[in-house]
Amino acid sequence: MSDLWRGDWTTRTRIITGLILFAFAFFHFLNLGLGLFSDAAIDWGQDARHVVTRNPLGEMILFAALLIHAGLSLFKLAARRSLRMPIWEATQVALGLIIPLLLIKHIVHTRVAHEMFGVNDEYGYITVLLWDTVDGAWQAGLLLIVWLHGCMGLHFWLRAKSWWQRWLPALVGFAMLIPGFALAGFLTQGRRMVLLFQDDDTRWALMEDYHWPDRDAFTALIAIADTLLYAFWATLALAAAFYVIRKFLSWRKSVHIQYTNGPEVSAFKGLTLLEISRANGVPHTSLCGGRGRCTTCRVIIEQGGDRLHPPSAAEARSLAAVKAPANARLACQIRPTHPLTVLRVFRPDGTRDRAHASQGEERRLAILFLDMRGFTARTTGQLPYDVVFLLNRFFDAIVPGIIGANGTVDKDLGDGLLAVFQTEDEKSSAQAALKAAEDISTALSEFNAKLVEEGGAPVAIGIGLHLGDLVLGEIGAAGNAPRTLIGDSVNTASRLESQTKELGVELLISASVLQAAGHATDGLSLQEFQLRGVSEPLTALPVKHATALPQLLATGQG
Ligand code: FES
Repeated sequence: MSDLWRGDWTTRTRIITGLILFAFAFFHFLNLGLGLFSDAAIDWGQDARHVVTRNPLGEMILFAALLIHAGLSLFKLAARRSLRMPIWEATQVALGLIIPLLLIKHIVHTRVAHEMFGVNDEYGYITVLLWDTVDGAWQAGLLLIVWLHGCMGLHFWLRAKSWWQRWLPALVGFAMLIPGFALAGFLTQGRRMVLLFQDDDTRWALMEDYHWPDRDAFTALIAIADTLLYAFWATLALAAAFYVIRKFLSWRKSVHIQYTNGPEVSAFKGLTLLEISRANGVPHTSLCGGRGRCTTCRVIIEQGGDRLHPPSAAEARSLAAVKAPANARLACQIRPTHPLTVLRVFRPDGTRDRAHASQGEERRLAILFLDMRGFTARTTGQLPYDVVFLLNRFFDAIVPGIIGANGTVDKDLGDGLLAVFQTEDEKSSAQAALKAAEDISTALSEFNAKLVEEGGAPVAIGIGLHLGDLVLGEIGAAGNAPRTLIGDSVNTASRLESQTKELGVELLISASVLQAAGHATDGLSLQEFQLRGVSEPLTALPVKHATALPQLLATGQG
């Protein structure tokens, strides 16, 4: 089925009935425009239309379409959970609600007058009836409202179609012509009729021809129109009551959340606070995606905390790890059942559409921490320009080794850097990091050879390689949020690099990198380290020169 007909039966029925009414309005307005030419032309058009609209089947389809379209639209409006809607939709709904108020009189004084009193409701009769009256102005307004309502409906139904987009400018121009043509026809026809009515004999003849209603008939028609209007108001009131009652019932099943410096929202009980934020478009940082691990979703409960369930052991552990105050909770772990006032500790920028990276992505990846040895001693007494020159040459030499192995430099740290290997999986990431370490070492040897040739001292480096859980996210104010790596693994890699200094080696590789890369560690001289700031002892492989890494891993000797 074409995507134009997607949706439930009510949507499809509204579309079909809307199309029937739109077609009726289109030909009705074209017919009215024929008044520009002559009485005969407008009458000819009306007779032609009546072949369809005044035969029993056509009439039944038309009135059924009108009632069903209006009824379903009203029901859809009343059944909404919220009246918040885009401005174009609100405009279309408002126009749709005005139409019956004006259309009822129109139908009563034409179709009903014809049926009850035998009135010949030709355009001439209508234009004379409406000429120079407030009702005439309202009926001209009705024409514009109906046309605009119909065109908007058609546009929002077809707008996704490429052919519609292509033809849109021409169609808009055409759509603007129709009401202009119709109103010009109405005015021209009206003028003609008023002139004719100035002559007594002609007026009596025309009134007889139209079966002009007498005073009693008009009184009856006005009473009918008023009754129908009351019925419409009563239907509107019913729809409003339906909306309010549903809202009230769902309110009883819902919970209210007031965000400090943010909106007040309500949502069904049972959702986590983070889900409530998401459902209501409230920006809420959640770097681990709601898994209770990052604590970036945490909130301070300013009111209502006493009626909140106590934290689970996992939530309490996470909060304790960040030394959160007693009234802090994790939004992804709490399910409010009573009103709460909460302050988001980490507020995103407040706009809704930040890049996906802003939300953070958790990955298990290899990282490389590199530092130039003895940088301070080496550069003491040198001109700053010389220092900058040396550093740039150094990085120019080694960074291609990282990039060539599918790594990226995440941070430049003056005389060092942090690189990450964001590949498909942890195995390829670990292999890439090992390759980068080897290539850096090779590049450094060549760089040092040049330095020595120039009479300088060679540069020594230390590299720490580790693989672990990381969160990659853009952290900072909107528009100024560089990609950042967060996680204990970064600290571990940095500590491994520091340890190389004490060991007098170039590279220290944690066992997790070797294992992830698929290397057996049995024959390697792994050592256990208690690194500063790392709670568990860590097993790692010291490597004197990273250039020897392939051979070392192949032979299984540390
Ligand atoms: S989103 Fe990470 S702890 Fe809640």
